[in-house]
Amino acid sequence: MPSLAGKTATVTGGASGIGLATARRLAADGANIAIWDINAAAAQTAADELTQAGHQAIASKVDVSSRADVDAAMAQLHDAFGPVSILVNNAGITLFRGFMDMDEDAWDQVMRINLKSMLVCTQAVIPDMLAAGWGRVINVSSSSAQTGSAGMAAYAASKGGVIGFTKAMAQEFADKGITVNNVPPGFVDTPMLRGSPIGSKVDAIAAASPMKRSGQPEDMAAAIAFLASEEAGYITGHTLSVNGGRYSN
Ligand SMILES: NC(=O)c1ccc[n+]([C@@H]2O[C@H](COP(=O)([O-])OP(=O)(O)OC[C@H]3O[C@@H](n4cnc5c(N)ncnc54)[C@H](O)[C@@H]3O)[C@@H](O)[C@H]2O)c1
Repeated sequence: MPSLAGKTATVTGGASGIGLATARRLAADGANIAIWDINAAAAQTAADELTQAGHQAIASKVDVSSRADVDAAMAQLHDAFGPVSILVNNAGITLFRGFMDMDEDAWDQVMRINLKSMLVCTQAVIPDMLAAGWGRVINVSSSSAQTGSAGMAAYAASKGGVIGFTKAMAQEFADKGITVNNVPPGFVDTPMLRGSPIGSKVDAIAAASPMKRSGQPEDMAAAIAFLASEEAGYITGHTLSVNGGRYSN
């Protein structure tokens, strides 16, 4: 039997890149999938792909920082699948901007989507996990919070917040059967990376990296699937770096 049979997983930002690979992987592992993404059309395409492959999947248009959107998506999820047992807090945006050019609106937007989303989405799923005495929350942070990165102060701060959030939540829910971990990607070849100011240099940077390649979304999905599994039940508060040796912690 697939390892996640009978479980339901929500993947935020599941319409693209790391989230899409994660949705595919968790579906292959047997979970029902709810894709929450602000890009409604891409989310539906992803859910249709999974359904046509024989999996159970639904899509909801969700801004992960909006409690109203998340509440509506939870109602849709409950109708389709019942309680949720796995949350992958993956949706995020990047911002490359020199610090002295940073305005408060841009700062707030990054914090809202990358960090406030942790509050809103995780609060929505915790009641189901408490009722079941079992849950997995996996937060996608960033290697930029581990290494620092010039021109990414807001982004690195938001992702550092995700790591701190993970550790605090892990301790708060450790005796409730709920694990909370984070996975910081490092240089993963996705539309976000290709659309960034270093997008045209991805292949050259990858060639100069320890493994001589960029990360693939499936590399991230494999780590997330492990943390979602039964076997990872004694791991919580952990930062599982997936970066091809670009940074060791
Ligand atoms: N690609 C990398 O190298 C890398 C490195 C470090 C961290 N990350 C993180 O990994 C995560 C996934 O990134 P990716 O590279 O797959 O990017 P991506 O742009 O390919 O996918 C991000 C998805 O999130 C969705 N999204 C954006 N804002 C949203 C919102 N407010 N509500 C709901 N959905 C929203 C987008 O529509 C998109 O489908 C992000 O949190 C990102 O910060 C990526």
